[in-house]
Order: sequence, then C-alpha cells, then structure tokens
Amino acid sequence: MSVCPQKPGQQLRASEDSRALRHGMMQAMTAKSKFVDPKIQEYIIGTTVREHPVLRELREETFALENARMAIGPEQGQLMALLAHLTGARRYLEIGVFTGYSSLAMALALPEDGYILACEVSDDYTSVARRYWTKAGVAHKIDLRIAPALETLDGAISEDCAPFDMAFIDADKESVNAYYERALRLVRPGGLIMVDNVLWGGAVLDPQDEDPDTLALREVNVRAGRDERVDVALLPVCDGLLVARKR
Ligand SMILES: C[S@@+](CC[C@H](N)C(=O)[O-])C[C@H]1O[C@@H](n2cnc3c(N)ncnc32)[C@H](O)[C@@H]1O
Repeated sequence: MSVCPQKPGQQLRASEDSRALRHGMMQAMTAKSKFVDPKIQEYIIGTTVREHPVLRELREETFALENARMAIGPEQGQLMALLAHLTGARRYLEIGVFTGYSSLAMALALPEDGYILACEVSDDYTSVARRYWTKAGVAHKIDLRIAPALETLDGAISEDCAPFDMAFIDADKESVNAYYERALRLVRPGGLIMVDNVLWGGAVLDPQDEDPDTLALREVNVRAGRDERVDVALLPVCDGLLVARKR
C-alpha cells in the first residue's frame, strides 16, 4: 500500500509535448512517497519508469477508487520487476492483490511459464485485477485464491509445494510477521521476500503510536534486521519496502 495519493495534475500546460504529458499524468496519478522529495520522485518517474500500457490503464482505473492508495506506485512495480529479472524468478507468491497492479507488474516480468500464487480475500477488487490480467495476456500465469492468506499459505506449506523465487507481503498489516515466517518457509534459498509499507508513513518512528498495524510493522523490521536467516535492506521507496534474501 502506498500513501497520500494526489489529485490528477491540472497544472499541465497544453504546450507540453506528449511524453512530458504522459509522464506528468503518470506522476500526478501516482501515490506520493513521504520519504522522497516530490520533485525527486517526479524526476525518477519521468526519466526511468517505463510502464506497460495495460498497467497504466489499470493504475488509472484504480486511481478513481476510494482505496486507490493501497496500490503500489509504478516505480516500485518497476523495481520489483527488475528484481524478478535479476533473480531469474519463475514462481512468485503475492499476499494482498487488491486491483492487481503489483501482480500484473510481476506477471509481465515472469517468463511465459511463470506461476503466481495470489492470495486475496476480496472478490470485488480482484474482479478488476482479472480483467487486466486477461487484457495483458498473463491470466494463465496467475492462480488466484480467494481466502484468508494464512489459510492459503498454510495449505501450500502442508502440501509441500515447490519453492517460490520471490514473495511480496502486502495484505493486512497485523499479520505481517506471520506472513514473513510463512514466506521464509515457502521461498527457496537465494529467493527474495519483500514486505510493503514498512515505514508506515513514518509511524514506525513514533513511540506513542501503539496501533496494532504499527506495532506489527515495527516488529517485522526489527525481526528481519536481526534475522540470521536472511540478508536484508530497507528501501525508502514509496511507503518503505523491506527486501530480504533467504540465505
Ligand atoms: C494494500 S492492498 C494490496 C495492494 C496490491 N499489492 C497492489 O499493489 O495493488 C491489501 C489487500 O490485502 C487484502 N487482504 C486484507 N486482509 C487479507 C487477508 N487476511 N488475506 C488475504 N488478503 C487480505 C485486501 O483485501 C487488499 O486488497
């Protein structure tokens, strides 16, 4: 989930060329990071984000929803896709699908025989996701399970399913530590576990903030930071992305 979406950018001038316009609109319809200067974020997106047209369309439809801020930003999608290429990922586990932005970004990055186990509780949100997976020609890679993620993950563990190359944790925050432990069992050595929103808009810094979501996110950062089972980095991308490589 990302933070602080802004209104579409009315300030674009008619004289701007279509590339600038496209990038301006992309930036305007993108959740703003609290941790990156807005002009720097705009520069990053304007210079380096190459968004597949179906991803862009999905982002624009999602932006109109009340919970639009839950989707990851395009720069994070591109980073995750790059990590998939770097690790040669073929099997990806996603916990928290919403309207499908992160799963579509990853499905586009995986090879043709790639596989995504996608965990989500909402039929409504994923009806949007399914439309875009089909439109982008990647629906065959995605195995969507509508059930509480812990049930799906425990099922995968007890069935001793083939290991995953990457996992992305982006569902209810209270369960983030349970998801982290399940993901560690399901990902292969050398594989990656990514956890979203780990800076939680900066709330992790506030000792007065004892909200269960904040406590859980604070705990997962400390847990991963001390965890000898992984190598770890916490990136101030969007709302904070923890990346852990299973040793
Ligand atoms: C932050 S959104 C996911 C955003 C998505 N990764 C993206 O980039 O568009 C969190 C999602 O987790 C789902 N969710 C919440 N609790 C869940 C649970 N216990 N099991 C599975 N999904 C859950 C919500 O319905 C919501 O769609």
